[in-house]
Amino acid sequence: MSNPLIIQGGMGAGVSTWKLARAVSKLGQVGVVSGTAIDLIVARRLQTGDPGGHCRRALDHFPFPDIARRIIERYFVDGGKDESKPFKSIPMAAVEPTPRLMELTVASNFVEVFLAKEGHDGQVGINYLEKIQLPTLPSIFGAMLAGVDRVLMGAGIPRLIPGILDKLSRGEDVELPIAVGKEKAGQTSRFSPRAFCEGEPPKLARPTFLAIVASAALAVMLAKKASGHVDGFVVEGPTAGGHNAPPRGKTQLDENGEPIYGDRDVVDLTEFRAMGRPFWLAGSYGRPERLEEALSEGAAGVQVGTAFAYCDESGIAPHLKQAVIDRVLGGEDVKVITDPRASPTGFPFKIVDKEDTARDPKTYAKRKRVCDLGYLRHAYRKDDGSVAWRCPSEPLQAWAKKEGDVDETTGRICVCNGLMATIGLGQSRSWGDDWLTEEPPLMTSGNDLEAILRYMPVGARNYGAVDVVRQILGSRFTAATELDPEPAEVLRELRS
Ligand SMILES: Cc1cc2nc3c(=O)[nH]c(=O)nc-3n(C[C@H](O)[C@H](O)[C@H](O)COP(=O)(O)O)c2cc1C
Repeated sequence: MSNPLIIQGGMGAGVSTWKLARAVSKLGQVGVVSGTAIDLIVARRLQTGDPGGHCRRALDHFPFPDIARRIIERYFVDGGKDESKPFKSIPMAAVEPTPRLMELTVASNFVEVFLAKEGHDGQVGINYLEKIQLPTLPSIFGAMLAGVDRVLMGAGIPRLIPGILDKLSRGEDVELPIAVGKEKAGQTSRFSPRAFCEGEPPKLARPTFLAIVASAALAVMLAKKASGHVDGFVVEGPTAGGHNAPPRGKTQLDENGEPIYGDRDVVDLTEFRAMGRPFWLAGSYGRPERLEEALSEGAAGVQVGTAFAYCDESGIAPHLKQAVIDRVLGGEDVKVITDPRASPTGFPFKIVDKEDTARDPKTYAKRKRVCDLGYLRHAYRKDDGSVAWRCPSEPLQAWAKKEGDVDETTGRICVCNGLMATIGLGQSRSWGDDWLTEEPPLMTSGNDLEAILRYMPVGARNYGAVDVVRQILGSRFTAATELDPEPAEVLRELRS
């Protein structure tokens, strides 16, 4: 498989949608969809009437028609649900998921990859977070059923994923240890392709596996000790959007409460070059001069997120995207805060400083704590030895009942509900007397927001994925687009 110069970074939840990944992939680069919470996203898209019929078209191609039919029956609302009514819930993830959730997880990963790959031969990857372990096995299987070319995983140590890809490609049963508190393998998640397919499972192409890492030591360990072949790495620095690795050593905060990164956090690329596997650099690399710099360091290219997050094809709700673009265009230095507390994962999380979002204390104070999506819950062992799940962003009483440390809840934000609202799929709620129509959004971005000016055609207030690719590749752009026989048509289609 060729190694294109640009990987469009996986952006959860629902920011790097199939539309974005498809656009990038058709331009000869790697388009990456996000697999995070894709079960919920597909269920909610169906409830908004499935505009364009895309999810239903993909489900028509799902190899298990009864499952596809059940999903449509359960979630599709013709013309879209009444906006003031809440979305129907889906079952929460569990070590032993209900058949209904298992079906939705496999099918939704299939849908997103199928749509991203539809009608062209470009490369499509899917991104998962290692920390979100429960849906991992059925998710990967669903993506592989749709022929995903690459699996990318960060936010943890994905040591067992390469071997899981090998086994799933042969139709073999797989298992994944689930962390319970400090125990790395307190429980085990299992997935059987044979049981799911109710017969001989198909042989599937094994996608390449790229580990997203923030240190050479982790990459070297993965190259030596992973359960199968790690095909390459994305080396992500602390200015990248989304979750970041914490600084090396004891975390120290600056006067704004942001983690201080120093020389020790600069990744030494010598060991990456020595490993002889392709690697891409991420974190403010969405500029042509930074691509050249990456190439001169021996990288295969760059992984870029923020630039694509604000382009026409990304999943961020258009009004939120435009509000940030307009502030940047207006010359404002829009702040992106590295918040060490907000995310229940415990990892620093980059958040755009914006009014009326969950990071705005006045807005967030109106929200009552509720945990009804649960992707970022952690497992813990109770005194009686059984395992239960909790999230420091959940209602304080529930957290206390689960013997969680009260200090852990300070500054936490419900990232799950916030990210859904950012992509226009936020839950509608009534908080007793205080009616809050929709969950407040939570926007993540990399620090290099100002760079979005570079992609903007003269006089425009928006730009497409093609503008990003063209800008970053510079004089190399033509060579890349030659992969597609009809670039003009592609560009027209992408713009429409
Ligand atoms: C909106 C947004 C969401 C992101 N979500 C994820 C994610 O779910 N998983 C992941 O591995 N990286 C995530 N990232 C990181 C990107 O994949 C990429 O590595 C990063 O954005 C590169 O740095 P840049 O933002 O400076 O271009 C996210 C980035 C953004 C901007």
